[in-house]
Amino acid sequence: MPSVFRPLSRPRSSTGAADGADSKRISPTAHYTGYVWVRNTLSPRALRTPQGVALFTALQPAMRVAARFNGGLTLEQMLLQRHRIIDRILDDAIATGRVAQVLEIAGGMSGRGLRFSRRYPELTYVEGDLPGMSRRKRSALQEARLDDRPGHHVIALDVLAERGPLALAEAIRERVDPTRPLAIVTEGLVNYFPRDAVEGMWRRFAALLAPAGGLYVSDLHTRGETEYYAASRVFRRALELFARGSVHLHYEREDEARAALLEAGFTRARLSRPRDWRGTLELPRPRGEDVLRVIEAWRAPAG
Ligand SMILES: C[S@@+](CC[C@H](N)C(=O)[O-])C[C@H]1O[C@@H](n2cnc3c(N)ncnc32)[C@H](O)[C@@H]1O
Repeated sequence: MPSVFRPLSRPRSSTGAADGADSKRISPTAHYTGYVWVRNTLSPRALRTPQGVALFTALQPAMRVAARFNGGLTLEQMLLQRHRIIDRILDDAIATGRVAQVLEIAGGMSGRGLRFSRRYPELTYVEGDLPGMSRRKRSALQEARLDDRPGHHVIALDVLAERGPLALAEAIRERVDPTRPLAIVTEGLVNYFPRDAVEGMWRRFAALLAPAGGLYVSDLHTRGETEYYAASRVFRRALELFARGSVHLHYEREDEARAALLEAGFTRARLSRPRDWRGTLELPRPRGEDVLRVIEAWRAPAG
């Protein structure tokens, strides 16, 4: 195993956060995806980083080989599938008035916050990431003078922390209004954490949404689909190469993931596949099975 690969889960600190190894190995992937969004006109050039360009260029030959085994879908195309589906679910929820504020966790260098805060000037859009990444995003936005939207904020948080200044409840206190319905988004995060960390995170999300109700949207890869097809196993290896470590496939099938979301406190949950969006969205189409699921989980207001 190459030396860049690190063990999966580490001991927790007194705040409940992982000791940072899992989180840190994930961070470079935000440069890669950040560049994919820029290449595909989903983000301004200001969010492109030299690391993103270098990583994308270095991994492109491996990704092309993996795609040959994987129904022709490259990692870039799968990323575009997930980004566009998440955009659509979020857009529908905002446009129909079911959501008044957005908290995008692990936003990395994504341009979604910028796009949505321009499209919906009244919207509060808070992006949170680990301190280093959020600092980097804020300075990229400042340098390009893209930090001019009063409702758009980039803050530091650690989604695994249960206590302390970076813990969710504390980090968003000044920015998120508990009396208004909220959407929480995680993109490109869940499959890098072990199952107990993910389910703890989902419980905290459901509790956060409880007062006014709201939505949770995320991509997810399940084991059944990812492991069953030899082609998809290749795809998993490509993801692991990309993330410099293991990708966790927590649930065998969609209904197990759905049950875990309900158990965490969501009122209803569905998982869709790219092919469910055919006819609605322009998405790259694999020759074989879809390897991606997108979670849309709602929490009704308590009481
Ligand atoms: C694959 S990137 C995805 C970035 C962005 N969502 C996108 O799709 O372009 C994963 C992001 O998760 C962030 N991250 C990792 N561990 C985290 C944690 N414990 N709390 C908050 N963000 C974390 C990384 O810093 C990185 O920006």
